[in-house]
Amino acid sequence: MKDEFYIDIAKESHLKYVDEILETIADAARVRGTGIAKRSPGYIIQKINEGKAIIALQGDTFAGFCYIETWGHDKFVANSGLIVVEAFRGKGLAKAIKTKAFDLSRKRYPDSKLFGLTTGLAVMKINSELGYVPVTFSELTDDEMFWKGCQSCVNYDILTRTNRKHCLCTGMLYDPQRVKKKDEEEPKSLSVYKRWLRFKQSVFLNGDKKKNSNPKNETDSKKEADQKSENGKSSYFKKLNLKFFSF
Ligand SMILES: CC(C)(COP(=O)(O)OP(=O)(O)OC[C@H]1O[C@@H](n2cnc3c(N)ncnc32)[C@H](O)[C@@H]1OP(=O)(O)O)[C@@H](O)C(=O)NCCC(=O)NCCS
Repeated sequence: MKDEFYIDIAKESHLKYVDEILETIADAARVRGTGIAKRSPGYIIQKINEGKAIIALQGDTFAGFCYIETWGHDKFVANSGLIVVEAFRGKGLAKAIKTKAFDLSRKRYPDSKLFGLTTGLAVMKINSELGYVPVTFSELTDDEMFWKGCQSCVNYDILTRTNRKHCLCTGMLYDPQRVKKKDEEEPKSLSVYKRWLRFKQSVFLNGDKKKNSNPKNETDSKKEADQKSENGKSSYFKKLNLKFFSF
């Protein structure tokens, strides 16, 4: 079917796409006018052989790619080299590839911090949805090898001039410890909020309820709200018009 994509961990049978992956990344960097971190075919082959890459295909046609890198003795993980072939952009494919790479990173490196550097709004949006937050560069890895990758960027002089404090990219970080702490704290604050909301409703809505001669009962309203929410969700997926699957 036209809009069905295979999105999964790349394996040996996908090595035939390596040249196309590198060409697509290089073409996109030229269009954006940015520099490009040097990636040799050998590097991409290694990522695929180690099970650290995600590939998207439509049938046999290459559609997108991303891979995992680790820094600072595995304390930091970056999902790098994200690319979607121009013809397949704007369909939610980057989001799906990044989500797979994120899940794989969390599975393989559950205690590591995930981070990224980007100037792209699409990547910022996707990262935010995954739970990344913007941070200063001091929060990111201090692994010299990682920062060496910036040398080929056209803005490298800004990074060096600011002693690696800022550049045009935004640093984003997913810290599993912070997320865990937030998850533990949230139910408490949520229950306080819910109690406060119930109190407000009882104070302000009671009068209205009395005035209303034909009130909808609570169950009907809830059903209606649930239905609206379900419709919202399904229309979002209809908008994407995509079926992601993996073998
Ligand atoms: C950036 C790129 C990967 C996005 O791929 P895509 O499949 O079109 O992205 P998606 O359809 O998954 O979009 C994800 C979100 O970003 C938004 N988005 C996509 N392209 C965008 C753009 N150029 N500008 C602003 N927002 C954009 C989408 O609207 C969507 O947001 P939403 O969830 O609020 O609707 C693709 O354009 C690309 O390969 N560009 C060249 C390489 C590149 O820039 N890589 C990133 C390096 S950091």
